[in-house]
Amino acid sequence: MADIPVSKTIDIRVSSSLRHNLRTPLNQIIGYSEILEEEAVNSGREDFIPDLQRINQAAREMVIRLDAMFATPAKTDLPETGGASFQSASNSGTSEQFRSTPSGLSSQKGALNACLGKILVVDDSEPNRDMLSRRLVRQGYITAQAENGRVALEKLHDEPFDLVLLDIMMPEMDGHETLAHIKADKHLMNIPVIMISAQTELHSVVRCIDMGADDYLPKPFNSVLLWARLRASLEKKRLREQELEHHEQTLRSEATLERLLALTQMVAGVAHEINTPLGIASTAISIINGRLSLPKIKALFDESNEAREILADILESSSLLKSNVLRAHKLVETFKKIAVGQITEKKEKANLPDLVEDAVGLFRINARQAKLSIDIDTSGITGNPEWFGYPGYLTQVIMNFLQNIERYAYPDGKGGIVNITVTDREQNNEAQFVVVVRDHGIGISPENLTKVFDPFFTTGRGRGGTGLGLSIVNNIMTSALKGSISVTSEPGHGSAFTIAFPKIIPD
Ligand SMILES: Nc1ncnc2c1ncn2[C@@H]1O[C@H](COP(=O)(O)OP(=O)(O)OP(=O)(O)O)[C@@H](O)[C@H]1O
Ligand SMILES: [Mg+2]
Repeated sequence: MADIPVSKTIDIRVSSSLRHNLRTPLNQIIGYSEILEEEAVNSGREDFIPDLQRINQAAREMVIRLDAMFATPAKTDLPETGGASFQSASNSGTSEQFRSTPSGLSSQKGALNACLGKILVVDDSEPNRDMLSRRLVRQGYITAQAENGRVALEKLHDEPFDLVLLDIMMPEMDGHETLAHIKADKHLMNIPVIMISAQTELHSVVRCIDMGADDYLPKPFNSVLLWARLRASLEKKRLREQELEHHEQTLRSEATLERLLALTQMVAGVAHEINTPLGIASTAISIINGRLSLPKIKALFDESNEAREILADILESSSLLKSNVLRAHKLVETFKKIAVGQITEKKEKANLPDLVEDAVGLFRINARQAKLSIDIDTSGITGNPEWFGYPGYLTQVIMNFLQNIERYAYPDGKGGIVNITVTDREQNNEAQFVVVVRDHGIGISPENLTKVFDPFFTTGRGRGGTGLGLSIVNNIMTSALKGSISVTSEPGHGSAFTIAFPKIIPD
């Protein structure tokens, strides 16, 4: 074909739609011939490939000639973005690298299949939509189609999509308007949009990129460019979602921590306020009890059976009152300890194996009654056994583990074995002790295991449990002892509580 002189270019006013109408079927010839090329490779009919490439090449040349006929240089003269040339493939030496070959395509398939996504193809031309969808489906994407912007928006609201391929020139609602709607809708604005444009519409593409489109694809599609831009946009979306999820997770755990802290402080605050009147009530009831036991009072009520019965009632009620006020007082004291934030203890040097032995010694009487045989193994300590920390807190932690074993681990009353192992280790440049308290009892169900450190979680409310023991232990381990705590359990085989803390507690 001979070159057409620029002077013969057709009137710009009629050129735009005429060019569009002429290019559409040519683009379809290019697209379908590429699909057939791929098909030929897959079905072992390589003998068709040279002819198909000739058809493809001829159609591409027709497109170039059409563009030359309708040339409007000012509009096609665009700044370079993303390193891709805007010229049609066979018209430019630099773009030749994008020319797809069937073998090049098949070598990409593995990578493409790894990033599948659901894509909405929006184009007014049915063959264009069909061609593009077929190519996408062949690569492993899921597609849906819309013939204009209005239908596209409806579909986007009805089901989730990973990406939109949006044609610019469409009747009813064109690409610009559709893009504006997508970007203004908070539910849709994060879906990547790739604009599909004719080579000569590139001035509109710049506008779309300014409006928030992720990228563009010039028609006729260059397969390498098509897959590369799809992959890049989908990857960007995935990374954005990952980042968002990570951010939300951080916010969620911060909120949980804050709630827990608020609850802890509230419990400690309430406990502190109740403590004073309870203390006064406790003193008062002790005085009343003392006075009621005086012989003088007894003599006063000795007149008749009725009077003696009244005194017996008063005495019984007052001792009931005394024991309950005392219990309330004790509970409130425990509640107060939940706010371990203000450490009142002093740091001391102690030999850790001795400290553990002493703590277990305090539990001797209970252990005997509950038929618990407690074995302590400190042979795993290879370094210095000295601990610079808070002996009182560690004793409290070990006592809590043992009390729980006594109360929950062996409900049949037959008792069992408890193993306490103490070892040391180096972690993150810090020397640490690790203490494991293990029973071989009923264990904790997986559902409860996630809750045992929650304040007020207990399965023993009827047995005097408040559900604060392990929550306090958790507080002590993480705030006062600057360490960590974890639990593993297998129902029917027992539980193991592990604490780890630095050999020298930092200030
Ligand atoms: N060794 C164990 N074996 C079986 N269950 C256990 C064991 N240790 C803890 N639990 C479970 O964990 C729950 C929470 O323990 P936690 O010490 O916090 O509260 P509690 O012992 O019920 O009450 P409190 O310690 O405040 O008196 C217990 O109610 C129990 O269900
Ligand atoms: Mg407990």
